Amino acid sequence: MELNLSGRKALVMGSTKGLGYGIAKALAAEGATVGIVGRTLENATEAASTVDGNAHGFACDTANAEQVDALFSNATAQMGTIDILVLNGGGPPPGSAQGVSSDQWRASFDSMFVNLVRLADLALPHMIEARFGRIISVISSGVIEPIPNLAISNAIRPALVGWGKTLAGEVGKHGITVNAIAPGRIATDRLKQLDANNAQRLGKSVDEIQSASQGRIPVGRYGRPDEFGSAAAFLASERASFITGSILRVDGGQIASIS
Ligand SMILES: NC(=O)c1ccc[n+]([C@@H]2O[C@H](COP(=O)([O-])OP(=O)(O)OC[C@H]3O[C@@H](n4cnc5c(N)ncnc54)[C@H](OP(=O)(O)O)[C@@H]3O)[C@@H](O)[C@H]2O)c1
Repeated sequence: MELNLSGRKALVMGSTKGLGYGIAKALAAEGATVGIVGRTLENATEAASTVDGNAHGFACDTANAEQVDALFSNATAQMGTIDILVLNGGGPPPGSAQGVSSDQWRASFDSMFVNLVRLADLALPHMIEARFGRIISVISSGVIEPIPNLAISNAIRPALVGWGKTLAGEVGKHGITVNAIAPGRIATDRLKQLDANNAQRLGKSVDEIQSASQGRIPVGRYGRPDEFGSAAAFLASERASFITGSILRVDGGQIASIS
């Protein structure tokens, strides 16, 4: 299936490595011009230089609203108007639901929700005028099946789903789709850190944690960022024009429920 994203401009948050990088590579491979974003310009330009295709690097910390505004100005100045926006970023620290400080809740909500939605609001006027747009949020299997010891993620990510579903209802008539992709366990630095953290917390080896974790995935292994990227490239394409307000699971069958 030809996805043909040539002429499209995509801004991919949190894309110097991991899932965001997998998405950026997949979009560029289909012909899109991609904006690679990380907290430092150095990381972002380095990652952009390794993408096969047309890629630009930008610095932006999603914790900072002013940096989000500046990113939008810089990206549109360098790349032109944005057709595809991927809302992604660093994961919050692991931890239990009890004892999270109010400051930590507020900072996480700003970084993982408020400032991502702010970016979408900046991009939407052009998408509406162009009668085409794709907004894709990277969430987590924890939205469907909360993950032990990831309380902040389990609590805040559903906000993106509720917002996205509402937005999908508002902008579908303009040719804009709004979807979320729920990763199960995809082999990235973040997953390595979580496995190491769980090994320490539960008094087990990292190998034991990984074997148990992979044993719960029907496909029998962790996913790869390129597999995740392919799903995003499809949703970003014209081929996915009748899919909106949905959560696509990229989890090797891990999530046990059917809804
Ligand atoms: N991997 C999985 O299996 C999995 C499962 C469920 C959910 N998720 C979630 O999916 C998202 C991406 O995961 P990942 O595995 O790709 O993580 P990762 O390997 O840690 O990569 C995170 C990316 O986000 C960037 N980033 C981190 N903090 C940022 C910030 N404050 N502002 C802007 N960019 C920031 C990093 O770039 P710099 O370091 O260059 O800033 C990097 O490019 C995370 O929110 C994670 O919790 C992942």
